Amino acid sequence: MQIEKQVIIDGLTFEPYLTREQIAREVERVAKEIARDYEGKDPYFLCVLTGAFVFASDLIRATGLNEAPISFIRYKSYEGTSTTGSVKKVIGLTDDISGRDIIIIEDIVDTGLTARRMIEDLRQQNPASVKFATLLYKPESSQTGFTPDYVAFTIPPKFIIGYGLDLDGKARTMPDIYAIKES
Ligand code: IMP
Ligand code: MG
Repeated sequence: MQIEKQVIIDGLTFEPYLTREQIAREVERVAKEIARDYEGKDPYFLCVLTGAFVFASDLIRATGLNEAPISFIRYKSYEGTSTTGSVKKVIGLTDDISGRDIIIIEDIVDTGLTARRMIEDLRQQNPASVKFATLLYKPESSQTGFTPDYVAFTIPPKFIIGYGLDLDGKARTMPDIYAIKES
């Protein structure tokens, strides 16, 4: 499969960063870690819309956890290529999750503000446990000290698109991951 050398979206130039093969390999590794940790348990997957739906769809199918439900929540903090600093809940949870072992599935942890806010909200509903799986983690951008439990890729603080991640709604459909070109 041919990968574009660069793509231009909204006047910004992006370069190839992670191929679909690299992504598949690390998603498989994280799925195995989750399968091992939750053997004999009854986890409940919670996918954070919109960006994480592509990762979640590959991840849950690779775990072999055939009885685990999946549901969706939505929070919003980003505009363009940077965080607004405030996190808004856009879609909440309707299921009763008390006593459940929750695995949040997120596309990327940047400042950690969204992750911290979601976990605070979920704890109000008395789950048995809450763990956090993310495709991408930018530790150098952290403003919270939040550390995810499962990470496919730890990356420097670059703006990323593709495989579910967007620039103002664009590029989610791209099968490979691209990073913004530093000028
Ligand atoms: P945080 O609250 O700053 O950790 O940011 C979390 C959210 O910001 C993620 O769920 C993404 O929706 C968005 N985000 C952060 N970094 C990027 C990026 O590099 N590309 C696309 N979206 C991003
Ligand atoms: Mg997101």
